[in-house]
Amino acid sequence: MLNLFRKKQIASDFSFLHTDLHSHLIPGIDDGAKTMDDALRLVQTLYDLGYRHVITTPHVMADLYPNTPKDILDGLAALRVAVSAAGIDMELEAAAEYFIDEHFNALVEHDQLLTLPGNRVLVEMSTLNAPPNLFNDLFRLQTKGYRPVLAHPERYLFLKQDFRQYTRLKDYGCEFQLNLLSVTGYYGKPVREAALKLLKNNMINFLGTDLHHARHAEALRELASDKSLMKLLTQYEFANATLTEPVAVQA
Ligand SMILES: [Fe+2]
Repeated sequence: MLNLFRKKQIASDFSFLHTDLHSHLIPGIDDGAKTMDDALRLVQTLYDLGYRHVITTPHVMADLYPNTPKDILDGLAALRVAVSAAGIDMELEAAAEYFIDEHFNALVEHDQLLTLPGNRVLVEMSTLNAPPNLFNDLFRLQTKGYRPVLAHPERYLFLKQDFRQYTRLKDYGCEFQLNLLSVTGYYGKPVREAALKLLKNNMINFLGTDLHHARHAEALRELASDKSLMKLLTQYEFANATLTEPVAVQA
């Protein structure tokens, strides 16, 4: 008999999310995996943690990582071959994590973005201060038919100082992707506090790993075995598993 009062089970991995939408797994094109062996270890970690679908998101940043859609998709093709040869049954796709700057605005203008399902665009900014025209940039993105997803909003402490800025971003149609490791204190106490407050206010749409390297992998495994943090995370609903339609390529 269905027990309507059954308590939600505490997860011991991240299979309840199914899909990860933020990681740096394509070797050699940003500050994530350096080699294909690194990448395979990271994909295996995600598999072991319960993920079965990964949309990896290399940085796109004019000065440091000027990755084009072709760079990313070529890297994805090579990664898929290696993952398949290694016998890891993971569905792999790619989008990007766009740093909001003039270069990004030009890509928006010319529809040269790799998007997440639903025409969503994963964006980030400096953790020190907001881009000068943040709200205008987000508005223009949406008039072009895209939906912004702000990566790790909890890491922008200038937003935390005035929590209403988060509400304003949500009012502007921005979805929020929290980094899983933020709740552990991996990025420091103020980031953890912001993460907990955003969760409590039901402002987080997606959880992401933002997996770059072996230290992140180890910290994610530790999080999965932390009953109280996993209990906290499973109290909320996240939309990760809805990210299933094919990733659009607009190049
Ligand atoms: Fe990232």
